[in-house]
Amino acid sequence: MRTLFLVVLYTGLCCSGSNQESIDTLMNNVLVLRVSDGEGSIVYVPLTCGEAYENQPVFWKKNGEVQPALQGNQVKVLVEEMDGGNYTCYLGPEGEYLNHTVILIQLEPDNRTVILEEKSPEEGHIHCAAPNYKGSFHCAWTKTSSRSNAAVLLVKAERHLENISCELNADGSGVYCQDASCPYKEEQHRIFLTIYIHSNARLEAYTKAFYLREIVRPAKLPNLHSSDGKAFSWDYPDSWEKPCTFFGLQYQVKVVHSGHSCHSEQHIVMDTIVEKTFVVNVKARKYVFCVRAQDKHTSGPFSPWSHCIVTKQQVEC
Ligand SMILES: *[C@@H]1O[C@H](CO)[C@@H](O)[C@H](O)[C@H]1NC(C)=O
Ligand SMILES: *[C@@H]1O[C@H](CO)[C@@H](O)[C@H](O)[C@H]1NC(C)=O
Ligand SMILES: *[C@@H]1O[C@H](CO)[C@@H](O)[C@H](O)[C@H]1NC(C)=O
Ligand SMILES: *[C@@H]1O[C@H](CO)[C@@H](O)[C@H](O)[C@H]1NC(C)=O
Repeated sequence: MRTLFLVVLYTGLCCSGSNQESIDTLMNNVLVLRVSDGEGSIVYVPLTCGEAYENQPVFWKKNGEVQPALQGNQVKVLVEEMDGGNYTCYLGPEGEYLNHTVILIQLEPDNRTVILEEKSPEEGHIHCAAPNYKGSFHCAWTKTSSRSNAAVLLVKAERHLENISCELNADGSGVYCQDASCPYKEEQHRIFLTIYIHSNARLEAYTKAFYLREIVRPAKLPNLHSSDGKAFSWDYPDSWEKPCTFFGLQYQVKVVHSGHSCHSEQHIVMDTIVEKTFVVNVKARKYVFCVRAQDKHTSGPFSPWSHCIVTKQQVEC
């Protein structure tokens, strides 16, 4: 009985250890080593320079430094903790460059992230917004100051088996994406956006899942004006979907004390309307008129505020 128990225990120990690591190809020339803990892990990773170099004198460098112990087309490299890198192979000790493999390390579960700043607990690390329902959207993130060298390796966006094409900003702080199959279809499935970003050999993956309707944010209302400081009117944003009757907007109007910003909690008037005009009926002769828009049907995100400053002498919008 006791022997059996020990055998079972031993089997359990042996296998839980080896199950904690995995090696996957993330993209061409990039291997990801997933480990459950960055401390104390030691993993041998097999590398191949290329099938064509099987019987050639292949020499290896790691991050540009010669590794005398690594020779031959197929080698096993020892990766301790977060010590990955760029392994390049050459034909002979001083020979021509043949190929390379980058080994990155990702902690699993990937919930101890350090590269991107969290925007808020609700929003997570990635902020996405769309100006309308046509299928294009923008997502942005912020690197923590201690990881400003981090670089985006790969961006994947998909909705229910369909890929969405995205283009990285020049400075790597966001992407523009276009869901080509989107317009005028009932939105049943979420969009999943995943950013693979690495700082040295540390790889982190950030995923955001959302419906387009949750991120559609109308642009700032244009052409806000008033001739008398009482009756105000404005236009639809150019970027908003037409026909206006189907994709309707509603407006939050707010009158705040002179000198206050539109974000002020102390308002004199606050109302939600669907017309593109509003008449202010207050005793005060100095105030700030504010208005912003929101999708009427989804009550999604608000546009930025537009405002006019009203004084006795003039109206400035
Ligand atoms: C170079 O290495 C990669 C693995 O990082 C491998 O997939 C690819 O086939 C190699 N290229 C050649 C030309 O052998
Ligand atoms: C790895 O080294 C190769 C060869 O020098 C280079 O082309 C490649 O850009 C490097 N990759 C990274 C991620 O440093
Ligand atoms: C990460 O997730 C694991 C299991 O999913 C959990 O036990 C651990 O507490 C989490 N760590 C943090 C820092 O949230
Ligand atoms: C989406 O992209 C992946 C690679 O990221 C590819 O394997 C897959 O075939 C693509 N799917 C479609 C429907 O194009």
